[in-house]
Amino acid sequence: MSGNQETSSLPSGITFVGGGNMARSLIAGLTRAGVPTSSIEVVEPQVALRQTLQQEHGVRTASAIASAALDGQVVVLAVKPQVMAAVCAELAPRLAAGTLIVSIAAGITLAALRDWVGTGAVLVRAMPNTPALLGAGMTGLYADAEVGSADRQAAQAILAGAGQTRWIDEEALMDAVTAVSGSGPAYVFALAEAMEDAARAQGLPDEAARQMVVQTILGAARMLAEGGQSAGALRQAVTSPNGTTQAALETLADGGFHELVGNAVAAAAQRGRELAGAG
Ligand SMILES: NC(=O)c1ccc[n+]([C@@H]2O[C@H](COP(=O)([O-])OP(=O)(O)OC[C@H]3O[C@@H](n4cnc5c(N)ncnc54)[C@H](OP(=O)(O)O)[C@@H]3O)[C@@H](O)[C@H]2O)c1
Repeated sequence: MSGNQETSSLPSGITFVGGGNMARSLIAGLTRAGVPTSSIEVVEPQVALRQTLQQEHGVRTASAIASAALDGQVVVLAVKPQVMAAVCAELAPRLAAGTLIVSIAAGITLAALRDWVGTGAVLVRAMPNTPALLGAGMTGLYADAEVGSADRQAAQAILAGAGQTRWIDEEALMDAVTAVSGSGPAYVFALAEAMEDAARAQGLPDEAARQMVVQTILGAARMLAEGGQSAGALRQAVTSPNGTTQAALETLADGGFHELVGNAVAAAAQRGRELAGAG
């Protein structure tokens, strides 16, 4: 696996099919990275979203694949998994041979995409997460051995504007990526909710509870990201023998915290496999 960032390989023309939350995050990253807005086209059926895309990002828009220019080297599929088969059926006859298709749909396998778009396109799967909205996302990428380095770099460059990227060696591991980084922000939000409730239960006012929890998570995340120490080493460093932190961590251990997180991630990965099977 590799985590190299690559922004120098940005393609000169990109069509997004689907102009929802994730597409807008990626477009914001692309424009921050200097991609001219005239080279980005978005196919989006909702008129209000098309207006937002034009006003906030200055990109070209189309209401349907049939009326899209599709003049770029890359198509990013950013629609919900449920509509992906229908979108690909519409797209397939309009694709030039060798077009790079990057799918960000959860659980849609390369085999399914290949069935739907035919053999002419080059396919890459990507799994971003919602912090992409702030340019702080984490994306897992997968392509099979037939995909060359120029296409890999182009796909990675599109996602790199929205945060960090990492290639995954086996497609089956995309379910693990979905379970860890795709769904992961929700686990942190659940922890924040529980800590805020606990803070209030200890008598802290609402605003103080929120500020203390948010800044604690932010500060701890920065120590993890910037300090170079493992999570375990950082935990030990703040746990004095018989102190307050030890009392809390023992309570978490007694409640099976570590195993519970493991089971939660396993359940998410299993759900991903089921959804892929259903696709
Ligand atoms: N949000 C996340 O955290 C996240 C993380 C990783 C991956 N993803 C994946 O990213 C994809 C997009 O997610 P999202 O959160 O951006 O969803 P979203 O906000 O619902 O955006 C999808 C957009 O595509 C539009 N659309 C539907 N049919 C279309 C068609 N035939 N042609 C063009 N556009 C069409 C939808 O319009 P209507 O609403 O009118 O249908 C909607 O505006 C999903 O496959 C999801 O699995 C999301």
